Amino acid sequence: MTQYSKRMVITHWLTLVLLLAAWYLGDTLSDATDESRATLAGYIIHGLVGGAVLLLTVVRLFFRSKDGTPPAVGRTMMDKVAKGVHHALYLALFLLPLSGIMTVITSSVAKALLAGDANMLPKAHGYHGVFAHEVHETLVTVLIVLVSVHLLGALKHQFVMKDGLLERMMLRRK
Ligand code: HEM
Ligand code: HEM
Repeated sequence: MTQYSKRMVITHWLTLVLLLAAWYLGDTLSDATDESRATLAGYIIHGLVGGAVLLLTVVRLFFRSKDGTPPAVGRTMMDKVAKGVHHALYLALFLLPLSGIMTVITSSVAKALLAGDANMLPKAHGYHGVFAHEVHETLVTVLIVLVSVHLLGALKHQFVMKDGLLERMMLRRK
């Protein structure tokens, strides 16, 4: 096999789309909370999109275990770093949504959702002492750094090394 299976390719790019949406929704939600105008729907939509990332990651790892992966492109130090980044990305795709779920459970968000009362939602600085929220925020930064390194690697392969690595993650079959 020289390319990732079609379903691995689809889940890879779908994850990117969902992550961008969850990131945008989370940022908007955080601004709204600071300005005391957050809505229950805002939390539900962000949670659903973020939760979809978690489910998709479980499905993706199942596909990975069934379909396998193409052999490593090389054995240099950079190839090992790239592999390490892939593993760290998978870990972040689990921990980020889980920390989001924990934020909801351990803050007043869960109570507000259960009561259906938006007035009970956290206001500005309303997450004081909610450890999961700090973890969630930190993991967002960690994910951005990891994806940036990953993207730079892909661009290097495409435009500097010109070895066609990107085709391994494309639907078009050779
Ligand atoms: C991979 C998926 C996710 C991404 C990329 C993501 C991203 C974000 C971002 C960027 C923020 C704003 C952080 C800030 O204050 O700077 C945020 C906040 C938050 N997220 Fe997520 N999130 C994800 C999954 C989830 C899930 C599954 C839940 C819960 C079910 C969740 C619950 C929350 C909550 C409660 C906040 C705080 C909003 C506020 O400030 O009031 N997140 N998220
Ligand atoms: C930003 C645009 C992106 C580009 C151009 C890109 C490109 C690629 C390419 C070319 C590969 C195959 C590498 C190889 O054959 O060794 C790959 C694999 C991978 N990508 Fe991305 N990617 C992007 C975004 C993301 C995002 C957002 C995530 C997750 C947060 C991600 C996670 C992964 C993982 C975990 C693998 C390894 C797959 C495996 O072996 O199981 N990528 N990516």
